[in-house]
Amino acid sequence: MAEILAAGEALERALALLESGDVVAIPTETVYGLAGDATNGIGVARIFEAKGRPRFNPLIAHVADMAMAERIAVFDPLSKRLAEAFWPGPLTLVLPQRPGNGIHPLVTAGLDTIALRMPRGFGGDLIAKLGRPLAAPSANSSGRISATTAQAVADDLGARIKLVVDGGATPVGLESTIVKAEGERLRLLRPGGIAAEEIEAALGMALLRGGAAGVEAPGMLASHYAPGAAMRLNAGAVGKDEALLGFGGQRAEGWRHAAAFLNLSISGDLREAASNLFAYMQELDRSGARTIAVENIPFDGLGEAINDRLSRAAAPRDNTEPTP
Ligand code: TXA
Ligand code: MG
Repeated sequence: MAEILAAGEALERALALLESGDVVAIPTETVYGLAGDATNGIGVARIFEAKGRPRFNPLIAHVADMAMAERIAVFDPLSKRLAEAFWPGPLTLVLPQRPGNGIHPLVTAGLDTIALRMPRGFGGDLIAKLGRPLAAPSANSSGRISATTAQAVADDLGARIKLVVDGGATPVGLESTIVKAEGERLRLLRPGGIAAEEIEAALGMALLRGGAAGVEAPGMLASHYAPGAAMRLNAGAVGKDEALLGFGGQRAEGWRHAAAFLNLSISGDLREAASNLFAYMQELDRSGARTIAVENIPFDGLGEAINDRLSRAAAPRDNTEPTP
């Protein structure tokens, strides 16, 4: 079983594992990441192995500073402005790779672009100390909910990895927002921890949305965030044997009879709701209810990303779980 070490005392052990080509689960401000040295093919392969992730899904490379980022990728002026405005933070930029950057091709699944992010906290310190970027997808097995606590990581991946660094519950609770330059504009590839409106305000320009050519972010496959239970969104009433995921002060009809009930934010605060989202989905899933009914959640601010995750979790299941 994986050892869980507090962030304050884990740096040396984490470094040693990464140096030896092994993986470590680390806290970031968004969700826990399963990190490996992005320049070491064995380390990157171990990430896929531990997650059971399909090989075509490219990973985010995490950097410690702007100099490291610019050794890896070529920044256009708009992306540079966003990096200056939001890094370190929950923003990922997809950029053309700089040739000879040393990134193992398994990280990018053979694409000539790379997703880059500069995380806050322990991850940033670890990367600076290592002197190399870390490839890190969310620390959950493929198709499952992202982990926002060290315990959730250990429960899911504990048998397959050696170390989980415990930095407490992740403050943002949603994965990073992913943006990609497209000519003179930027496209939103994945809504996430920074609201699209905030990015648009910083740019003074609207983001492009919706389908770019091809599957730009394969991790956006429909049923990526699936719990074991079925999900039913915008529920105005609770059905028989359903658990209820609430939001705000207005309750769905029959809520007292729900098999289990949790409220993402009693005060209707979307940031609080985002940080509770995955943990509450997991907890309601554990209640054994066949379906999780979810109350209506507004689409403004972080509500867009929350609704995105929920609709993926509610999508018809494809290859993620064998049906019992
Ligand atoms: O907050 C986060 O972003 C967390 C923490 C650990 O940093 N990481 C995370 O990684 O969510 P992951 O692997 O679960 O999601 C990465 C997403 C996937 O949807 C992947 O397809 C997309 O980034 N991606 C990676 N490289 C890409 C590229 N070159 N072009 C387009 N999308 C890319
Ligand atoms: Mg993920």
